[in-house]
Amino acid sequence: MCEGAQDLTDAASCSGRLVGVALAASRLSEESYVEAAREFNAATAENEMKWGSNEPSPGRFNFAAGDVIADFARDNGMELKGHALVWHNQLPGWVSSLDSAEAVRAAMLDHIRGVMEHYRGRVRAWDVVNEAWNDDGSALRDSVFYRHLGAGYIDEAFIAAREADPEAKLYYNDFDGEDLSMKSNAIYEMVRGMLDRGVPIDGVGLQMHVRIPDDEPAIAELTQNMQRIADLGLDVVVSELDVRHCNGETAEQQAARYHDVVATCLGQPRCPEITVWGITDRYSWLNAAGAPGCPDGETPHPLLWDNDYQKKPAYDAFMAALLGP
Ligand code: G3I
Repeated sequence: MCEGAQDLTDAASCSGRLVGVALAASRLSEESYVEAAREFNAATAENEMKWGSNEPSPGRFNFAAGDVIADFARDNGMELKGHALVWHNQLPGWVSSLDSAEAVRAAMLDHIRGVMEHYRGRVRAWDVVNEAWNDDGSALRDSVFYRHLGAGYIDEAFIAAREADPEAKLYYNDFDGEDLSMKSNAIYEMVRGMLDRGVPIDGVGLQMHVRIPDDEPAIAELTQNMQRIADLGLDVVVSELDVRHCNGETAEQQAARYHDVVATCLGQPRCPEITVWGITDRYSWLNAAGAPGCPDGETPHPLLWDNDYQKKPAYDAFMAALLGP
């Protein structure tokens, strides 16, 4: 099977890893999109399981959009990642405007229980807390959760998550914490402290929205960072991989970057999952105004399929890395 691998499906089963993709429910009516999605053996809802989507008003859960992703994953034999329970972004207004610790705590714990109980038995791993650190990792982000509950909200969220679905793996997920930096140190110390306190946590997600130059993260630093997290007994996963391809850079450079990131995960036994953040360049979040695209405003075409669903050199490199040296 490994030698004759034709597509990502074959390569993923050879690698023994979860090879995932972020899916948008609204695109599942497109034949080419679905065909590409079926090459993966794991799925994450790009937006449909976020708080703004599934609890738009207090206690009134709406799982319709998230269930579209969950059903697609089930019907296609894909493992499902839950993303994300507690995040400062894509929060409904009613949560952002809560003004007491009691109200924020009740809302957060009820949300975790309500969502996790709905998906119990279907979600392999949840991003329980997402992006709690500020951009450079100098402090915890000033979210409604931190403002009212202090740093302890993170422990509280994970404890509630374990109770709500004892079988699901519980991950902390963040961006720009891939190399050895103030931010990755902060994340490392945070999860180490959680383990010391007996807080249930199973892994760390490195989002990996990266660019081509081999400095953020440098592969040597990514390898070291993954290893120190693994040495704590935690999983370390690549949770939202995309590689911006900007002016003057080549498709081969993008392909090499994909290859090296995937190979680094493959070299780490505690890295069970690599998820790419979308299928086609056409629908990447990086095309939106205000996203960290390319310096000159050029479209970053960061994914494995181009705008017309043609497989790019990045696809071949991704697959080659899964098949190993
Ligand atoms: O659904 C509405 C639509 O009805 C409306 O017409 C349109 C107008 O702007 O907006 C649509 O919602 C957008 C949504 O994506 C669905 O397309 C939101 O404006 C837009 O903000 C939202 O962006 C998402 C972003 O998270 C929000 O922060 C991206 O798709 C999604 O890829 C991105 O994913 C995040 C991860 O969850 C966490 N890590 C970083 C990553 C990239 O930012």
